[in-house]
Amino acid sequence: MGKDKLKKWAENKAFPHVYEPELLPIIKEGKTFMKGEWHAKAFGNRNPLILELGCGKGEYTVGLARLHPTTNFLGVDVKGHRFHKGAKDALSEGLSNVCFLRTRVEFIESFFAKDEVDEIWLTFSDPQPQDKVGVRRITSKYYAEKYRSFLKVGGCIHIKHDNPEVYEMALSEFGGDPRYAIETHSFDIYGEYMQTLDAYWQEVLNFRTYYEQMWLEEGRKTKYVRIRLVS
Ligand SMILES: C[S@@+](CC[C@H](N)C(=O)[O-])C[C@H]1O[C@@H](n2cnc3c(N)ncnc32)[C@H](O)[C@@H]1O
Repeated sequence: MGKDKLKKWAENKAFPHVYEPELLPIIKEGKTFMKGEWHAKAFGNRNPLILELGCGKGEYTVGLARLHPTTNFLGVDVKGHRFHKGAKDALSEGLSNVCFLRTRVEFIESFFAKDEVDEIWLTFSDPQPQDKVGVRRITSKYYAEKYRSFLKVGGCIHIKHDNPEVYEMALSEFGGDPRYAIETHSFDIYGEYMQTLDAYWQEVLNFRTYYEQMWLEEGRKTKYVRIRLVS
């Protein structure tokens, strides 16, 4: 085990805004964790709650939290040494609207109650393009059915990705389903699309995650789909 990972895991344990529940009671016994309690227990307010699932180092979680001090942001990833960076940055900057949760997205319904979440960001998630049903692809409609159990009607799912199949599958899976509206999408956000956006959305879509930066350097285009939950 690398010393660096051990150090990050130890620091995560001591961080007041990092939650690392045991998964076995959730999987085997159907236990829940903080379900319906994030506002009161983690953030101490009733401000909107936005999730970044598969957050990696948490660039969107921390970037958006800086922009919106009166909104709560929760980064979720199974790898604590990755979000350690975001957790440390949030702490050193005194961002009281940021928390991180180490868990697997497969069990995400065990962590949030109906209407507890306002928006979800899915940033450069593992693409799983061969998974046509979507049981391993967290950008799929199969996963959106889980997200519906806690995402408010009127809230949205943001998918930012380099993979053309993830983009196309999002358009085909959600398009035509009256419960979802595809509000906007682009195959190459840094092309002409960016010029059509107002200053706010330009700033938001310009946050570059660790993976995004890698793919851009390889010449890949960044895609974006925003899906609103209609009913
Ligand atoms: C390709 S990386 C993208 C990370 C970050 N969003 C970025 O853009 O740099 C995918 C991330 O999702 C996490 N991940 C993959 N499958 C997951 C799952 N089932 N539950 C929770 N996190 C998962 C990985 O640990 C990894 O950090």
